[in-house]
Amino acid sequence: MNTKISKYYDKKQAEEYETRRGKTQAWHVESEVFNEIKNRIATKYNNNMDVLDVGAGTGRWMLDLNDVASKYVVTDISENMLVYAKERLNYCSEEFKKNTQIIASSVEQLPLHVNGKFDLIIMTRFLSFFSITEIKNIMKIIRNYTKGDVVISLRVTDKKKNILSEALNLIIKSPIGAIKRYQKSGKLSYAGLDSEYHNAILESGFCVKKKNVVVKEKYNRYEYWELTLDQKNN
Ligand SMILES: C[S@@+](CC[C@H](N)C(=O)[O-])C[C@H]1O[C@@H](n2cnc3c(N)ncnc32)[C@H](O)[C@@H]1O
Repeated sequence: MNTKISKYYDKKQAEEYETRRGKTQAWHVESEVFNEIKNRIATKYNNNMDVLDVGAGTGRWMLDLNDVASKYVVTDISENMLVYAKERLNYCSEEFKKNTQIIASSVEQLPLHVNGKFDLIIMTRFLSFFSITEIKNIMKIIRNYTKGDVVISLRVTDKKKNILSEALNLIIKSPIGAIKRYQKSGKLSYAGLDSEYHNAILESGFCVKKKNVVVKEKYNRYEYWELTLDQKNN
């Protein structure tokens, strides 16, 4: 597993996580895209979904789920990030608080800590840090937890050369930024080939139902993908 990203969210990073990103337009557009998808899926379940959030960090989606989740399990490897998820829970309804669990666990160790199946599984700003092999392993774990819908976010491109161009551009424009990004995640480009991600998802027993673009940048697109189990393989 990408041990760099799994160790990155210390106290300082957790403290700054939302204050820094919350100022960007992408963060707000992403919230709109997430809520549009979530509302559509929630209608299918009469606003009564069991939801698992993997790599949930500060529990960013918690208030958006308050009225539609009958059970919410928040998991993350970083106890520092989960401090903020616990704080956010104070702003939720009493019913929601009762039905929410906040669990410190890596995705790999999820089977030791979480049981059951979920109507909706969320993995946002998470998978882009992992290699295709790691993503396949993660999706194998997730397959055991899903009853239906999975929402993931990915930074994608259609051309391999764009991945290199993004990395070079970062080094030229901001060498310090490049060093920081590499220290954070062991990668210079967060983007991966759309086709490679797509195939990894299919090989893991899922179908890609819809790809929603959040932002288009020079070398990549940030997208929310809606997945379901491939009934043929399950
Ligand atoms: C960029 S944050 C995303 C947080 C949240 N999902 C969001 O959309 O804002 C990535 C999160 O993944 C967590 N993480 C990294 N490696 C992990 C692993 N192996 N298992 C579970 N969580 C992990 C980090 O601690 C961090 O909170």
